[in-house]
Amino acid sequence: MERYDTIDALRAALGRARQTGRSIGLVPTMGYLHAGHLELVRRARAENDITVVSIFVNPTQFAPSEDFSTYPRDMERDLALLAQSGVDAVFTPGVEEMYPQPLQTTISLKPLGDILIGKVRPGHFSGVATVVAKLFNIVQPTRAYFGEKDFQQLTVIRRMVDDLNVPVEIVGVPTVREVDGLAMSSRNVRLSPQDRQAARVLSKALFEGAAMIEAGESDAAGILAKMTARIVAEPGVTLRSLDICDARDLAPVETIDRPVVVLVTAEVGPVLLIDQREARPA
Ligand code: PAF
Repeated sequence: MERYDTIDALRAALGRARQTGRSIGLVPTMGYLHAGHLELVRRARAENDITVVSIFVNPTQFAPSEDFSTYPRDMERDLALLAQSGVDAVFTPGVEEMYPQPLQTTISLKPLGDILIGKVRPGHFSGVATVVAKLFNIVQPTRAYFGEKDFQQLTVIRRMVDDLNVPVEIVGVPTVREVDGLAMSSRNVRLSPQDRQAARVLSKALFEGAAMIEAGESDAAGILAKMTARIVAEPGVTLRSLDICDARDLAPVETIDRPVVVLVTAEVGPVLLIDQREARPA
């Protein structure tokens, strides 16, 4: 596995691979890797000749009040995991390399980037879309891999790629969960033992909501009310948003008559967690 800190060095190496017609799979990450990331890597390796993983904690997707400085980082461990997983190249730029000058060009999706988590985290999806567009331009991958846990992020990236005709195939990969259902996330490490227990309510509520939909309940407001009651009853959990949306474009759904996604954002202790579950009406 080769590690590259600069755009020029990575481009030179990938240019040689591209000339010989080899496909490139990109897994963008912010590091502190877990089994969910390794599943993205596994898919990328299975479907491409060369797998590139980027590790970059992107400051522009964090608001000043958010956890950029405390976001967990462990580069040595990440590199060891990626080497064991058979990754070909790791791109680990510093902030100066990615943002040598203040950006005058950014990507905003309206309304997709401003709804749901975009309401809780204003500007977040503009930071994500912009850095992902930069990574696509740097790596020029054949395919890029994103977890379905961050469902709105995946939808934003798919839409950006459609709107701007970016020549990359976006692959969404199902959420990997702990045995008790908690969605894997780099932030889980910041949960106290008590908060870790409390966090289980999110996946439990999502699974119950999805089961209601799959059993034929079609009133979104009624299902959300039951899920809300379940979540707010859990001490230490502050519900920030809970929605049932059209699975294709995240438009709000009142009567569930098409495939939907149930999305939750909550603070558990000091940690902002998100999760999702797709469901099809009976
Ligand atoms: O999902 C993440 O880890 C980040 O939002 C991403 C896609 C790597 C962009 O910084």
